[in-house]
Amino acid sequence: MLRKSPFKHKKILIGITGGIAAYKIPQLVRILKKEGAEVQVVLSESAKSFVTPQTLSVLSEKPALSDFFKSDQGEWNNHVHLGLWADLILIAPAGANTLAKMSHGICDNLLMSVILSARCPIFVAPAMDLDMWTHPSTQSNIQTLVNRGVHMIEPEEGSLASGLEGKGRMAEPENIAHVLSGYLAPKPNYFLGKRVLVTAGGTQEPIDPVRYIGNHSSGKMGFAIAEQLIQLGAEVELVYGAVTVVPPTNCQSYQTRTAKEMKAKCDEIFPTCDVLIMAAAVADYHVVDVAAEKIKKTDDTLMLALAKNPDILKSLSEAKKEHQVLIGFALETEQEEFHALEKLQKKNLDCIVLNSLNNPKAGFAVDTNEVTLFCKDGEQYHIPTQQKDEVAAALLNKVGDWLSKTNP
Ligand code: CTP
Repeated sequence: MLRKSPFKHKKILIGITGGIAAYKIPQLVRILKKEGAEVQVVLSESAKSFVTPQTLSVLSEKPALSDFFKSDQGEWNNHVHLGLWADLILIAPAGANTLAKMSHGICDNLLMSVILSARCPIFVAPAMDLDMWTHPSTQSNIQTLVNRGVHMIEPEEGSLASGLEGKGRMAEPENIAHVLSGYLAPKPNYFLGKRVLVTAGGTQEPIDPVRYIGNHSSGKMGFAIAEQLIQLGAEVELVYGAVTVVPPTNCQSYQTRTAKEMKAKCDEIFPTCDVLIMAAAVADYHVVDVAAEKIKKTDDTLMLALAKNPDILKSLSEAKKEHQVLIGFALETEQEEFHALEKLQKKNLDCIVLNSLNNPKAGFAVDTNEVTLFCKDGEQYHIPTQQKDEVAAALLNKVGDWLSKTNP
């Protein structure tokens, strides 16, 4: 049977910056074109000293672009359109200067503007001299980019243009193509046919008939996860508390109020599920004596005795069968990673999703989120700020990949 190339009909934008390794990019363009990709090349001004736009235009069958303006008639190369056109962007070779510009959002040429406008995955194949590669500023820029979700194609070891030997050579075109192909290849859909229990929203603990202890959870993230799972072909059971948005209609859903009610529903459903995704914000305490009548404001202060709620996730993890997978959320305001990893271990989870409240565009109520996924084997993935449905898709993609590897 003929293999369908993962590059078929994919729109790949290759950004070339100044560096001797630029002479290898025509070879990469040829490989990608042969595999069926549409390739658009954008060069920085200094890249032209190492490879000609004419060669790249001929091989890519598109004009290789480097200027904002196409001619003196004012026609321009729209960087926003280019950024949105691409399914994937590769910057190769990327020197220390390019990495620094990317990490600081400097946008002084067409290529940098395209990168800032892009919403697709970005891959970078660095190339530079040994000492520039190991320099703390380069390494810190790389870390910043990786934390933002940029994929690094590690340079290779060997003789460098300076005559030195060591790490810094751009990965060979065949190896770059191999990395991109692995990324674009269709992945097994772990969630297809799986029964998944998702919790969402916040619990409310009554004080009296009109008041309660609650939290700011809107249910948006949990619902986005449920929606995405349905699209992936999972059978979703949704248990939710107080929310500000409408739950998905194409799955079984149950509304609960207190942590105790949520626990009872989860205890009933979980034994028949394959996966639990616990996105609900469960109140840690409940009022010991809930007043039967509305509390009157007779005193200047009011003391409420609170008692600890059961930890739903922890108790389900204690009851879990071998094939069952548990994924928790951690909402932290300080020492975020430390606390998330502590919960991963204490609650005996497979993965934990860290939500930071330090980013104003992440967490409760807002439509966007930024999360980091920590898996029990030490793997971790950062998902940069995006709409919650996009975060849900990226998160399930990563979790699904990880589960296909570790829990086939
Ligand atoms: N959780 C739960 N039952 C609780 C409290 C939390 O099932 N009574 C779940 C949450 O849904 C989440 C994970 O445990 O998936 C972590 O919740 P979080 O509120 O971040 O942490 P806590 O365990 O409550 O610890 P703390 O409040 O001290 O940070």
